[in-house]
Amino acid sequence: MPKTIEITFTLNGRPTRAEVPIGASTLTVLREQFDLTGSKLACGEGECGACTILVDGVSLNACLMFAVDCDGREVLTVEGLRGAEGPNRVQRAFAEFGAVQCGYCTPGLIMQTEYLLACGEVLDGAALRRGLEGNICRCTGYVKVLEAAAAVLDQTADETAEVNQ
Ligand code: FES
Ligand code: FES
Repeated sequence: MPKTIEITFTLNGRPTRAEVPIGASTLTVLREQFDLTGSKLACGEGECGACTILVDGVSLNACLMFAVDCDGREVLTVEGLRGAEGPNRVQRAFAEFGAVQCGYCTPGLIMQTEYLLACGEVLDGAALRRGLEGNICRCTGYVKVLEAAAAVLDQTADETAEVNQ
């Protein structure tokens, strides 16, 4: 039996307690203990971004983070983006621009876009491309993804400018 340790953390906005095996990745615990299967195990080596989650607002590869290190932190998965009123603005933009690809890359791309949005910076096309370069898809040209991400970032920048006027 692997040794476990109790942790408490906030998971998708809810105070959460878990017994996690020492050495288990956050990705394994999210998927196997909490049935949060949006984050995917693809490379398992921090190379593809399929497992991207936000921890204390910072995007991380859940496959590389020990679950015990979630203790006291705020963890957000793709499932936590959806609010009472439905999909959030990034999810809606991906749907609107036809950027929803396969189930492996899309959750990570959405989470990374969410992170870029939370950074509050106005990003040009090149910066946006750099911001998403850790999320790998070998099947498509990223065009729709970049369009969706640019649209939601522009929209947010416009709203911020209006509020500050
Ligand atoms: S599965 Fe975590 S980065 Fe690829
Ligand atoms: S990895 Fe998802 S469409 Fe290519």
